[in-house]
Amino acid sequence: MADRPRPRTPVRFVAVALLAGLVSACSPFDDLMVQIFGRSMRDQRSFDPYENTLLPPEGSVPFSAGNFSAGPNQVSLGQPDPSAEMPPFFTMAEVAGEAPVVMEMVNPVEADAASLAEGERLYNRFCAPCHGVDGVGASAVLAPVHPVLPVYNLSSAVTAARPDGYIYGVIRVGRALMPAYGHQIPHYDRWHIVNYVRQLQAQAGNPAPGE
Ligand code: HEC
Repeated sequence: MADRPRPRTPVRFVAVALLAGLVSACSPFDDLMVQIFGRSMRDQRSFDPYENTLLPPEGSVPFSAGNFSAGPNQVSLGQPDPSAEMPPFFTMAEVAGEAPVVMEMVNPVEADAASLAEGERLYNRFCAPCHGVDGVGASAVLAPVHPVLPVYNLSSAVTAARPDGYIYGVIRVGRALMPAYGHQIPHYDRWHIVNYVRQLQAQAGNPAPGE
């Protein structure tokens, strides 16, 4: 063991480093590293934190666009919309508390055949698992494992008596046990679903008041 020559590399390394350090006493540490290793990690092709590496693809929609499409059945173009239809801000508490900002929203989408067809497509995708294809929670595939759902029968007279804005509000921000769907279902699509829920209610013999 004692005969084995000691590795000399670390000694050499320290000596070179010290020498180089003396030579470049005024250079930054990176320059010293360049002299020892021939390069420095500082000089590399990299991006600074938060630097925009790529421009967003053409036609992409910034999240700040508020998920607001230009009109019914149109994709969001991300433009600020100066129209009075821009939905007001409200919270789940305001939905549950039946605040005027929610209750007095006016449905801008006529319940024509196109809207009802779109509403049916979206309803069956987003709502039917919990509320059933007919709006009666008891018929939902989740009802056996979520016994609360039958209580919230969307086709019932109770929900039919609620204004359009209320149903829109529940879709957008959720209410208690129901999750919010506003981030997945844009403005006009929510109104298509409201129109379709109205149709389900009418089919169940509970037309909304005034319809
Ligand atoms: C994950 C299950 C689930 C999904 C999906 C779901 N809901 Fe609900 N929904 C609930 C639950 C649970 C309640 C009861 C909320 C509570 O605890 O107050 C509810 C309540 C509601 C109410 C209130 C009814 C009333 O009169 O009190 C409306 C309206 C409603 N949902 C509409 C919808 C619509 C429209 C969709 C589709 C966009 C949808 N829900 C998707 C679970 C769900």
